[in-house]
Amino acid sequence: MPAASARGTPGVVRPMDPTRPMDLPNLLRSRIEESLLGTSSTELQRAGEILSGRYRAETRDGRLHLSDDLFAKAYTAARLPATYAAVRAAMEAVAEALPEFGPDRLLDVGSGPGTVLWAAADAFETLSGATLLEASAPIRRLGERLGEGAFAFPPEWRSGDLRSGLVGLGPADLVTLSYVLDEIEPADADRLVDALWERTEGVLLIVEPGTPAGWRRILRVRDRLLARGAHVVAPCPHAEACPIEAPDWCHFSQRLPRSRLHLRVKDAEVPFEDEKFAYVALARETGAEKAARVLAPPRTGSGKVRLKLCRPDGTAGEELLTKRDGEAFRRARRADWGDRLPA
Ligand SMILES: C[S@@+](CC[C@H](N)C(=O)[O-])C[C@H]1O[C@@H](n2cnc3c(N)ncnc32)[C@H](O)[C@@H]1O
Repeated sequence: MPAASARGTPGVVRPMDPTRPMDLPNLLRSRIEESLLGTSSTELQRAGEILSGRYRAETRDGRLHLSDDLFAKAYTAARLPATYAAVRAAMEAVAEALPEFGPDRLLDVGSGPGTVLWAAADAFETLSGATLLEASAPIRRLGERLGEGAFAFPPEWRSGDLRSGLVGLGPADLVTLSYVLDEIEPADADRLVDALWERTEGVLLIVEPGTPAGWRRILRVRDRLLARGAHVVAPCPHAEACPIEAPDWCHFSQRLPRSRLHLRVKDAEVPFEDEKFAYVALARETGAEKAARVLAPPRTGSGKVRLKLCRPDGTAGEELLTKRDGEAFRRARRADWGDRLPA
């Protein structure tokens, strides 16, 4: 294994097709549609609205949001496409930063319907096993059905509370937590993050909604694990204190198409949505080549482009590149929000 990579089989990453928006795998989309036959759009819409309200308010009232079959179905119709897109984009960033990383085993907690498993199987063809932990029986059952026979290995679904120390869960090359931290108390979150890091042999990837609160939770994880010797793989190009200051916040955006079902459930007309997300990927080993990260949509004018960058020296700020900058200008013109920009 080259020193530059995190642990796992030397990697075969399936690059995303840049001409394709971040769509769900066809099999997953058709299985979701099948699973919703017999449930009316009105019911799904209402449940979706209640769920959105609870997520927006970050409601923590001791109840799981996905507490019954209808909420579980509404989640797969209304939210899964966006969380899949965000996680898949974050995995692409990991793959770009650590091209040799090829995880064998995935450990995903707070798995919902298995969103991360589908994204990881799409991103890393090395994947040969997965353990998923989920407390809600309705979403776990639905996730098991959606994924039946879909992978080169049978995923192992476990029922359990992620606040209880992850007892009995073994290590994995890729450990993930996607859109979960906002559902638990900060003290539980710290303990969970420590337990996840203990089980991480390669990369720990944590994704949150791209809100200021989501970014603050990501920062807390980053600071906590850097202090324990972790190395940041993405998005940060350095291990210094985060140079972004409130009211600004570090987040990214991933466009995804909305299927007819998705439009119906959201009572929407625009055929796509832009999912805002924040994330951090941390590794046991370092080696990612240093490159700046584009922190906002580039602003282009005739013969010039203005980029907001986070830089390997720990600073962040705007840079103006013009034609006179030659190759750097050409690369900057091709860059998009979230991209790495090698020096
Ligand atoms: C917003 S969903 C995210 C699902 C999936 N990770 C994704 O990205 O689409 C959060 C999931 O975490 C689960 N969860 C919340 N608290 C939990 C706990 N204490 N133990 C286990 N799972 C929990 C919920 O039941 C839900 O399925």
